[in-house]
Amino acid sequence: MILKLPDGRISSIMIGENIENLSNYLNSEKIFILTNPEISDLYSDVFPAKAAVVAMPAGEQNKNLHTVFDTVRQLIAAGADRKSIIVGFGGGIVCDMAGFIASIYMRGVKFGFVPTTLMAQVDASIGGKNGVNCDGYKNMIGVFNQPDFVLCDSKTLKTLPERELKAGLAEVVKCGLIADGDLFAYVENNIDAILNCERDKIYVIVNKSIEIKAGIVAADEKEAGERKKLNLGHTFGHAIEKHSNNILHGEAVSIGLVIAAKISELLNLITNEDFIRIKNVLANAGLPVTTNISPANLLEATGKDKKRENNSVHFVLNRGMGNSEIREFSFDELAILLEKALKAI
Ligand SMILES: NC(=O)c1ccc[n+]([C@@H]2O[C@H](COP(=O)([O-])OP(=O)(O)OC[C@H]3O[C@@H](n4cnc5c(N)ncnc54)[C@H](O)[C@@H]3O)[C@@H](O)[C@H]2O)c1
Ligand SMILES: [Zn+2]
Repeated sequence: MILKLPDGRISSIMIGENIENLSNYLNSEKIFILTNPEISDLYSDVFPAKAAVVAMPAGEQNKNLHTVFDTVRQLIAAGADRKSIIVGFGGGIVCDMAGFIASIYMRGVKFGFVPTTLMAQVDASIGGKNGVNCDGYKNMIGVFNQPDFVLCDSKTLKTLPERELKAGLAEVVKCGLIADGDLFAYVENNIDAILNCERDKIYVIVNKSIEIKAGIVAADEKEAGERKKLNLGHTFGHAIEKHSNNILHGEAVSIGLVIAAKISELLNLITNEDFIRIKNVLANAGLPVTTNISPANLLEATGKDKKRENNSVHFVLNRGMGNSEIREFSFDELAILLEKALKAI
């Protein structure tokens, strides 16, 4: 699949390709694989023989400028130059940091991704947002820059802890809800096979999700309008993440999707049957669907959300199954809807 931006820039996205073929996409003498120790242990066998490997520490707490500095220093020491190519090989954290580092190293070098989590395959590696956190605020420092290629191999998901796989599935369900009722139904009907990482099933959900995200990004790379739809479930998802200690992004998004669905039902944009389908598919995937965080705390946390503009929030709603719309609410309006929704979930 090709992601083509209006100005002609393109990214090649290979889905169902084998990681063993990575070398075929690297037309540079100097290749730097940016990864983390855990992934390096699992996958160093398939790293191209001539590549230099730079391991960055894993974990959201290390997705910051300190790690960027350390990594840049290692690239300098290893002789990376403007003709080098950087490959982010790992989950969303590795991809976000590798894309950012490649974008600033010597004012920018070529880069590609081998995303190894479902979250990274369907979301983090697609769309050109690269960056790091600052003082606990997510993705505050970053750039828009598209990779030359993205290589997704479903077999990497077999080594992924099941909890991480399920978290990625929340973003797949989100894509279906935003733009493709058939994708949503496919997840509903194939949940066990997907959780078993059956190759053909993973191919379908990754392919469809990427198609949806790439289509939206091609039309609105910098999130002026349509791209905001990808934030379905994320306004309260991010708030839940901020108020929880040990929750994965996808798990928080799952709860956020249920809240957004209930608010959509309250506004007569979906039926109660639709709401139940949404809640059930997430619950059947083993994802959390409720929270005991208070409405006040959730709202307070959205105050620091980047998606807040002036005193209002652009909130993404379901409109039927496989369709969505963005509405602007004042904080007061959203507070009332949230309170009602949490009581009714
Ligand atoms: N740029 C974007 O548009 C975008 C979109 C969504 C998420 N993100 C970012 O992605 C990050 C989350 O990514 P994630 O969910 O992939 O988490 P992650 O990168 O932390 O990976 C999860 C864990 O799984 C391990 N792992 C990765 N691949 C593995 C494999 N194949 N086998 C075994 N273990 C493996 C990792 O080492 C890590 O411990 C967040 O920082 C988020 O902000 C960015
Ligand atoms: Zn997300």
